[in-house]
Amino acid sequence: MQFLLICLLFSKSLADQYNINKTPFPDYFKFGAATAAYQIEGAWNEDGKGENIWDHFCHTRPKAVLNEDNGDIACDSYHLWERDIEMLKELGVNHYRFSISWARILPTGYTNVVSKEGINYYTKLIKELKRNNIEPMVTLYHWDLPQTLQDLGGWTNDIVVDAFVNFARICFESFGKYVRYWITVNEPFQVCHPGYGDGSLAPGLYSPGIGEYLCAHNLIKGHARVWRVYDDQFRDAQKGVISMAVHCGWYQAESNTTEDLEAAETKSQFVIGLYMHPIYLGDYPKVVKDRIAMRSEKEGFSKSRLPEFSEEEIEYIKDTHDFFGINYYSTYNVKAIAEPPIGEPSFEKDCGVFTYSPPEWESTQLSVMKNTPWGFRKMLKWIKDEYNSPEILVTENGIAIDEQYNDVTRIRYLKEHLSSVRDAMMFDDVNVTLYTVWSLLDNFEWSNGYTPKFGVYETNFSSPERTRTPRRSAKYYKHVATTHGIVWSQEN
Ligand code: BGC
Repeated sequence: MQFLLICLLFSKSLADQYNINKTPFPDYFKFGAATAAYQIEGAWNEDGKGENIWDHFCHTRPKAVLNEDNGDIACDSYHLWERDIEMLKELGVNHYRFSISWARILPTGYTNVVSKEGINYYTKLIKELKRNNIEPMVTLYHWDLPQTLQDLGGWTNDIVVDAFVNFARICFESFGKYVRYWITVNEPFQVCHPGYGDGSLAPGLYSPGIGEYLCAHNLIKGHARVWRVYDDQFRDAQKGVISMAVHCGWYQAESNTTEDLEAAETKSQFVIGLYMHPIYLGDYPKVVKDRIAMRSEKEGFSKSRLPEFSEEEIEYIKDTHDFFGINYYSTYNVKAIAEPPIGEPSFEKDCGVFTYSPPEWESTQLSVMKNTPWGFRKMLKWIKDEYNSPEILVTENGIAIDEQYNDVTRIRYLKEHLSSVRDAMMFDDVNVTLYTVWSLLDNFEWSNGYTPKFGVYETNFSSPERTRTPRRSAKYYKHVATTHGIVWSQEN
């Protein structure tokens, strides 16, 4: 009893830390839920699907994933997609963000083989969503490059740009009639840094300070070409919008000293600006170009490790956006440090700052994702100021937490983050029009396997049916999506 009281008091005091904005979201505001192909579909080699880098990574380096989990079956959404749609209906959401598995549509990675089964799968899914008045929001690339392209260097080889454009064109031709929202690439930094820099995520290439910038360069070019193809050839008839979704952690200065403030800004430019500056403002951010060039020279390279865009490319890439897609999970502290010693190149040394999550901040199942709702508002304001007040769509936000019984922390997380978004809209005049919860259901959380629970629906991974059960947060989110109110009477 005493223990229960202490728990209650503790969770109450945490809940009190954040001042909830009680103003409901406006009528035009949209709510949805998100997933991604490799994380939910399973059926990794069914109906002619080709191998992708996540299949390959999990099968060839099983120890790189917690418990040696893999996405071979995942939530089995390839077979259970109708249940997923039922859940979206239960939630009363406007849109469903999911991704298309490139190798399911093009098993060889190229257009020489187009899988009828693959096209058929997404057509069924999209049509059924539309029939239920749920807008499909389709991500073209959520981290699952066909292995054939990886064998040639993946995103570090510019042949991938043409391949990506060809894949995108097939998707526009096949599904564009029904799709209003497209996302070219999910989280470019997470594709390039862990994928081609430190090697912690597929394809697991270790090339710090080199591979990751080559990846960034081609990925930005690929995004721009896909945007322009859509704009020139499809937009008039299909009337959709298309942009990138970027993982935006809020990098806050540890103190108000000029050095720490500058360090925090530098970090944001390296993680977010590296990708969004070319698309919004033209070319890489100055601080990123200057620092990499300066360090490359001292390290003995003949030119900067960051490739250069030509004047023509800068113009071509600029303005290839219709909205700003943001995935927000957490805030980090940043502190200025002395210039790191010259030696092996690395992204961290290029940034030249110290980034950390203070241990006293509330933890979640993932140590790099502390529960920090206040940073969301600051992040949104930063995007507004930095990129000329774009329309912002929250394409992901959620928490990994495993509370079987009452799910109070997830409910509080969602409530506080929604409140932070509402604050940004009301007090900072940020134009946010849509919010998407990550995730519809527990799924394969990349190198953390099935341990982190992000779903508002629980997935039972031990049952062959992958039974899905709503958590209490699903009920809370239904309340939000259907009433636009943040406060819920049944919260505790
Ligand atoms: C990714 C998701 C991932 C989520 C939680 C985002 O970085 O887009 O695929 O599951 O964060 O880590």
